[in-house]
Amino acid sequence: MSTPDMSADLDVASIRADFPILGITVRGKPLVYLDSAASSQKPRQVIDAMSRYYLEQHANVHRGIYYLSEEATRRYEAARARVARFINAASEREVVWTRNTTEAINLVAYTWGWANLKPGDEILVTEVEHHANLVPWQIIAERTGARLRFLPVDDQGHLRMDLLGQFLTERTKLFALTAMSNVLGTINPVKELVEAAHAVGAVTVVDGAQSVPHMPVDVQELGCDFLAFSGHKMCGPTGIGVLYGRRELLEAMPPFMTGGDMIKAVHRDRAEWNEVPWKFEAGTPASAEASSPGEHA
Ligand SMILES: Cc1ncc(COP(=O)(O)O)c(C=O)c1O
Repeated sequence: MSTPDMSADLDVASIRADFPILGITVRGKPLVYLDSAASSQKPRQVIDAMSRYYLEQHANVHRGIYYLSEEATRRYEAARARVARFINAASEREVVWTRNTTEAINLVAYTWGWANLKPGDEILVTEVEHHANLVPWQIIAERTGARLRFLPVDDQGHLRMDLLGQFLTERTKLFALTAMSNVLGTINPVKELVEAAHAVGAVTVVDGAQSVPHMPVDVQELGCDFLAFSGHKMCGPTGIGVLYGRRELLEAMPPFMTGGDMIKAVHRDRAEWNEVPWKFEAGTPASAEASSPGEHA
């Protein structure tokens, strides 16, 4: 089978021009960068927005009643609304800022997993998971007494859908799966897998670290309960990622990290939690920017 010639439709020179790092030379040659699946380079537009934020707009978010803090807060929440639209979440309250995919998955493991799993329960993952979607489940399985099982793949790297019924049973309480394998590039039938998981009452966690940068992802269409992805793999800065979670699940979950803005009220012996998504955003967050350049009202 011949490979389609994509280069005819790509204006490579203008795309390269968007990425200042591609202007450097390495050992006398123009830089070639092929590791975007691990972390993408940043286009000038993102670098400029970040610089502008630090040059003109920075203050702590949700912590001050003065111009800069309110403006930083507005931009931070505007970015959340934009991400909610991007993945078609039913509400921006379903978008939790995290550091990256890894932290988003750990958040679900340590909150939903810890609160809901017990001996006799099963966690299902696939054989092609990134460590970020495996090790948190190993730890939670060990701590709760739940059993970790693996849905196999065939010689071509495709999930053994014929075995799904043997692995997804009424004992399965959570199914954590990648939408797109970082090793094989295979794309899993997420919608079908989510439907099968829901049919046995399991909660679904989709690792979107590779799929969200590469293809349209609509959480309402997929029907998933959680979706995790990272900004740095899709031309954004490092240090910012997303956990999408269905609102009723987020509401029912205990907090992950504590302190700072995740608190509504503090007493000597206890504290009351903020509403979602802020309940899961402890401490000063990374900066998020989603609005137009350089305007100060
Ligand atoms: C499929 C998949 N999941 C999770 C991760 C972890 O992403 P991060 O390091 O941004 O948390 C990666 C990173 O390569 C990945 O490819």
